[in-house]
Amino acid sequence: MKEYDFVVIGSGIAGLSFALKAAKHGSAAVITKRKAAETNTAWAQGGIACVTSDEDSFELHVRDTLQAGAGLCDEAVVRTIVTEGPERIRELAELGVRFDEREISGLRELDLGKEGGHSKRRVLHVRDATGKEIEDALLRKLGRRSNVHLLENHMAVDLITAAKLGFASEDRCLGIYVLDEESGDVETIRSDRIVLATGGCGKVYLYTTNPDIATGDGVAMAWRAGVEIANMEFIQFHPTCLFHPQAKSFLISEAVRGEGGILRNDRGEDFMKRYDPRGSLAPRDIVARAIDAEIKRSGAKCVFLDITHRSPEFVRERFPHIYQTCLRFGIDMSKQAIPVVPAAHYQCGGINTDVNGVTSLPGLYAIGEVGCTGLHGANRLASNSLLEGLVVAHRAAAATLRTRPARKQKITLPEWQSGNVQDVDELVVIYHNWDEIRRLMWDYVGIVRTDKRLQRASARLRNLQREIREFYWNFKVSVDLLELRNLAAVAALIVDSALCRKESCGLHYTLDYPNPDDRQFRRDTLLSRN
Ligand code: FAD
Ligand code: SIN
Repeated sequence: MKEYDFVVIGSGIAGLSFALKAAKHGSAAVITKRKAAETNTAWAQGGIACVTSDEDSFELHVRDTLQAGAGLCDEAVVRTIVTEGPERIRELAELGVRFDEREISGLRELDLGKEGGHSKRRVLHVRDATGKEIEDALLRKLGRRSNVHLLENHMAVDLITAAKLGFASEDRCLGIYVLDEESGDVETIRSDRIVLATGGCGKVYLYTTNPDIATGDGVAMAWRAGVEIANMEFIQFHPTCLFHPQAKSFLISEAVRGEGGILRNDRGEDFMKRYDPRGSLAPRDIVARAIDAEIKRSGAKCVFLDITHRSPEFVRERFPHIYQTCLRFGIDMSKQAIPVVPAAHYQCGGINTDVNGVTSLPGLYAIGEVGCTGLHGANRLASNSLLEGLVVAHRAAAATLRTRPARKQKITLPEWQSGNVQDVDELVVIYHNWDEIRRLMWDYVGIVRTDKRLQRASARLRNLQREIREFYWNFKVSVDLLELRNLAAVAALIVDSALCRKESCGLHYTLDYPNPDDRQFRRDTLLSRN
């Protein structure tokens, strides 16, 4: 059995930042289910929101975050994350991340981007591929640390807890089962500090900006271990995902609208002005709902993002990645408007934590997108999540040192039991269920909801979960089966949370209760299996 002082699941901004800090104090393993760079982080385009300019202030960043969060942010958490941002950004720069600069009157200063809901330019970026630069810098640094063991193609299956082993009086996290994808064996790994940094759950929806790794594994594992889950009804839909039959999950950054891009409907109208005075740069929930309404009203398949009024040189230099990708699909964004549709993008809820990533289960931490600290409330302000990943990872590393449990007699961790092992010969059932979940979530639990559709989704999901459970116990586990099981669990959590909230608030918009309700307003939705 392997044993480490720290076990981190996930190799995005949160997991790697944590591992680099924790490894100064002991041995660490970073477990990641594909190649290390296959993360949401590496796909981030717009950048990191952080106060760095004299024209900006912490107060303004706090105010914008609270406004986007629609009354559900935890203000103390917002203040902590916003004010600790600059120090964490300095550390990234020391690792070699070179944020774009521009020259003004002979002086060089950071080139700050603007995105929806921000009252100031405050988004640090590396052209339109900020996340890749950060991921590469963190991985380079990790490669130089000899006491961090990077286990690629290893998928965390489930947490091992004292309660699961029958020690119910004093529950804590003791370790984790991990599938080695090459050998097919499930290993038992012991650690007093397990850190979930598994990212979000975009793949639960048919259309998403997220890469394939985003199957909600962390939330599903925590849920099965009896940990508290918060606010899963708040799924953020990004308004502008490229609409093209061959393009899978390609985001057109909000920074394009920040640089003047205008959303137009099939008649060429700047329709956003009818929905919000801020026009195309209104917060995401408003823009996504407006696009949904325009598409439903007109029967068109998409709307268009038009930045052709900026010079072709500017467009190519500021957005080289987006420009080249669109060009590959036959769209020259400097000459023609880009066809776009909304797609699932970010999970604002997650494992309930404080600002240090501490969960309701001793020994278990959750950081980055998988956690719900209270920063985002009912709707995340653009480019606040990379910032949260950095700050909370830093604070969690300190917290794990403060809260190390006194050494007690070690509980023997049981080896993984596969039961009556057979290979899955009914792959078609897995793929069918996978598709069914993603489509039903898109159709019934999307941007605009109703109780009736949510109840339909709930009933279907219970049946699917029963079928998947049967598979899980009868067949040898595989990545596909484990991801399907997690997707189904997370889909059910989203639906259950949405059914609890009988009001419209932030990203949760329901036709049955179109307004915020004073009796519910400002209350988190907390679910726990216990
Ligand atoms: P991730 O970076 O998603 O990493 C998750 C890791 O966990 C991966 O390594 C994955 O393989 C691993 N993992 C998952 N499950 C398991 C398992 N069972 N076992 C082992 N490993 C597992 N935010 C911003 O602030 N600014 C932006 O400009 C921005 N742009 C974005 C653009 C796109 C296209 C997308 C999809 C998101 C964007 N976001 C942006 C959101 C932001 O990128 C993510 O919220 C953030 O990167 C999440 O970081 P993370 O470390 O929590 O998780
Ligand atoms: C984008 O570049 O539009 C994504 C920013 C974010 O999700 O924070």
